[in-house]
Amino acid sequence: MSYLTLLAEKKQGYTIITLNRPDKLNALNGQLLADLHHAMTQAQQDASVHAVILTGSGVKAFAAGADIAELQPLDATGGLPFSERGQAVANLIEHLGKPVIAAVNGFALGGGCELALACHVRFASENAQLGLPEVTLGTLPGYGGTQRMTRLVGRAKATELILSGDRITAQEALRIGLVNEVVPQADLLARAEKFVQTVLLRSQSAVRAALSAILAADELGHVEGMHYEAERFAELCDTPDFKEGTSAFLEKRAAKFQHLAA
Ligand code: COA
Repeated sequence: MSYLTLLAEKKQGYTIITLNRPDKLNALNGQLLADLHHAMTQAQQDASVHAVILTGSGVKAFAAGADIAELQPLDATGGLPFSERGQAVANLIEHLGKPVIAAVNGFALGGGCELALACHVRFASENAQLGLPEVTLGTLPGYGGTQRMTRLVGRAKATELILSGDRITAQEALRIGLVNEVVPQADLLARAEKFVQTVLLRSQSAVRAALSAILAADELGHVEGMHYEAERFAELCDTPDFKEGTSAFLEKRAAKFQHLAA
C-alpha cells in the first residue's frame, strides 16, 4: 500500500512508518493523519508485524505539529472534531497492542510531540528539539499532550513546558524522562531497530500482555491495576510460550517462542 504523506516499509517482523511531508517539516495535515491511521491499523492487523517504528523523513523534523494552515480557520464547532481526530490517531498508537517506537529525528513539536508521547519508547537524535508550543498560537495541546506529558514527566515539568511553549533540546528531554535515549542522527534508526530486534526475541504474548499492563498503570487505580496485572500473569501461564520459556531455562537452552517457530 502506498500513501501520499508517509512511507510504510515492512521488514522482518516489524514495520517502519516514515512521516513524509519534508517541505512542511512533516506537519500533520488531515491527509497525513488519515494515512497514519490506516498504516497503523494495517500494522495492528498484520500477524507477522510485532512492532512499529515511527519516524520522520529527512534530518530536520519528526513532525513540526498540526498543520497550522488547517488549524487557522477553525471555530469551536470545527475545533472539537479536529482535536478528536488527532487524539484518535494517538490513542490508536498507544493501544496498538504491539510496541510502537518513536525515532525522533528532529523537531517534534505540538502534534508531533504528542504522537511521540503516544509511542511506548522514544529514541531521539542529538539535533532533536521537543516542545508543545500551542500557547504561542493561542491554543493548547489538543492531541493528548496535556494528559500524556503530565503523566510522563510529572505535573510541574509538564506545566512549565506547556505554559511557556518553549522548545527543549534532546539532552534536556532525556534529563526529564521525555525520551529514553539520545543518539547521533546517523545512528538513530539503527538504535530503534536494535531495540525492536531485542523485543522480537522475546515471547510476543508476554510482550503484549506486559504492554497492556503498563498502560493500565495510567488508566486504572492502583488496586485495580494490580488485579489487572495478576489476571494477565495468570493468562500467560496457560500459553505455549510460557511453557517453552520456563522449560528452556531449566533445560539450559535458548527458548524458541511461537512466532519464531512459525
Ligand atoms: N504547519 C504548517 N506548516 C509548517 C509547520 C506547521 N506546524 N511547521 C513548519 N511548516 C512549514 C513552514 O510554513 C515552511 O513552509 P514554506 O516553506 O512553504 O513557507 C516549511 O514548513 C519550513 O518551515 P520553516 O518555518 O521555514 O523552518 P525553520 O527551520 O525556519 O523553522 C520551526 C522550523 C519548526 C521552528 C518552525 O517551522 C515552526 O515554529 N513551526 C511551527 C511549530 C508549531 O508551532 N507547531 C505546533 C502546531 S499546533
